[in-house]
Amino acid sequence: MSENKPIRVVAFASGGGSNVRAIYNNIVEGKLNALLAGVISNNSSCGALEHARHNDIPAFHISRKQFQTETAYEQKLLDVLQSLHTELIVLAGYMKMMPESIVRAYKNKMLNIHPALLPSFGGRGLYGHFVHQAVLDYGCKVSGVTVHLVDAEYDTGAPILQRCVPIKDDDTPETLAARVLEEEHKIYSDAIQLFAESRVKIDRRKVTILK
Ligand code: GRF
Repeated sequence: MSENKPIRVVAFASGGGSNVRAIYNNIVEGKLNALLAGVISNNSSCGALEHARHNDIPAFHISRKQFQTETAYEQKLLDVLQSLHTELIVLAGYMKMMPESIVRAYKNKMLNIHPALLPSFGGRGLYGHFVHQAVLDYGCKVSGVTVHLVDAEYDTGAPILQRCVPIKDDDTPETLAARVLEEEHKIYSDAIQLFAESRVKIDRRKVTILK
């Protein structure tokens, strides 16, 4: 583990939050030099928020529906992110499109995790179960995980890390999802650790991991 100050990470999630929990556990176990500065969700009852509240991590329910205008909503997101001194945003099963103003404000400082090897099996409508179903329907022999930078489109930012996950002959979308999720729980922390160690050099789409 490096001697550097922990990187301040804010997670956005909408669902079960197993990736948020894995990141938190890796921090607690000393495997990741980060601080989970906050968790933000559009879904007040999601597992990720519950986990945050349970562990004294600042938890925020912020949904577009709470605001009269898009501007007010985006300003709220920015204010909260700034108040948490956010250095890196991680989207972990966040089901809303991140507003462009936030993507711009955190350019090259916002990551997403996708449960397949992009650019295959990504884009609008390809999330959760649909990804694994599409991978199996295609007859792929391997799937994987991609951690990538977030830009203004779905799943199109430059990859930071990608890892393969084998497919078995008798896989269902559920069994494949479970194997992929196991890898997600490792790779996301590994990617965050690279940022914590300032080892990610980004030149447009070219991402180099420094030794
Ligand atoms: C993960 O499969 C992730 O790749 C995708 O959404 C799922 C979130 O799972 N973007 P969880 O809420 O972290 O358990």
